[in-house]
Amino acid sequence: MKKTILVAGSLNMDMVMEMARMPAVGETILGDTLSYVPGGKGANQACTVAKLGGRAVMLGCVGRDDFGESLRGNLAAAGVEVSKLKTGESSTGAASIYVDGAGNNSIVVIRGANEECDISYIDQNDSLLRQCSYVMLQMEIPYETIFYVIKKAKEYGKVVILNPAPAPGPGAIPEEIYKKIDFITPNETELKTLTGVPDCGRESLEKGAGLLLEKGVGNVMVTLGEQGAVLVNAQGSMYFPAMRTMAVDTTAAGDCFNGAFVTALADDMAVPEAIRFANAAASVAVSRKGAQSSIPSAEEVQRVLAEAKHNDDNKVTV
Ligand code: RIB
Repeated sequence: MKKTILVAGSLNMDMVMEMARMPAVGETILGDTLSYVPGGKGANQACTVAKLGGRAVMLGCVGRDDFGESLRGNLAAAGVEVSKLKTGESSTGAASIYVDGAGNNSIVVIRGANEECDISYIDQNDSLLRQCSYVMLQMEIPYETIFYVIKKAKEYGKVVILNPAPAPGPGAIPEEIYKKIDFITPNETELKTLTGVPDCGRESLEKGAGLLLEKGVGNVMVTLGEQGAVLVNAQGSMYFPAMRTMAVDTTAAGDCFNGAFVTALADDMAVPEAIRFANAAASVAVSRKGAQSSIPSAEEVQRVLAEAKHNDDNKVTV
């Protein structure tokens, strides 16, 4: 029986506009395409777990509207257990996503029904929290709910993974919460926002990760986009290079990384192996358009890993 991964988080309908370059402030430009794609950091991570063959259960809230139905249906089709998703009174969450010719993105999220993912809803689903092995969260649902889930998860002895995205400023996460996080997974910008370190250079990165470790986090895993990822913990730091790929859209690459990482842990892979697996999954995701539409299958990830081994471009630096 597979270990269950509970994802408590957001579901958004992504309105994706592609354009050659991002508009400047005050500028109007002509874009190329418009598409509606299922997204939301929580849903993307749950979808990744299921597509990679893991057992994912999702807690979150959609509106009583077509977008909500579509998001629910898409996750169910991917194999996520969605029977406990809440239907709220607000409209389903939405994200406006600009993607430029180099595959970079800019995202604005309107949380909508995600804000109704409250503590009483979590309490109604306490049995799911008790039954799972891993709890994964992001930061597009109310903070008080996130902190409540983390407290409960630790009380029940679960492994807690927090992807602090979008990142709040220093001080927003209570000190007592940091001690209950096994893995925190910011990207460089999120690490900067979260800890107040001045830039994304190697020294700042280690300093920022060090600050989080001092607060009691078990492991800090910083995703570095096309550079890969760094794991920092009490044993030191380890760098994992990204797999070579042609990026067309980086939307949800971090979600894919996070979902793949926890899936690998639940499959009993050691942490370094799980990070290599997550790097491989993210390399496929960036080569395709959209959020959930870009998530690979386990077979695709294994192919990338086999190729990377063949090319010897998968080395770890301590
Ligand atoms: O990480 C990408 C996701 O961020 C998008 O799917 C969007 O909905 C926002 O949540």
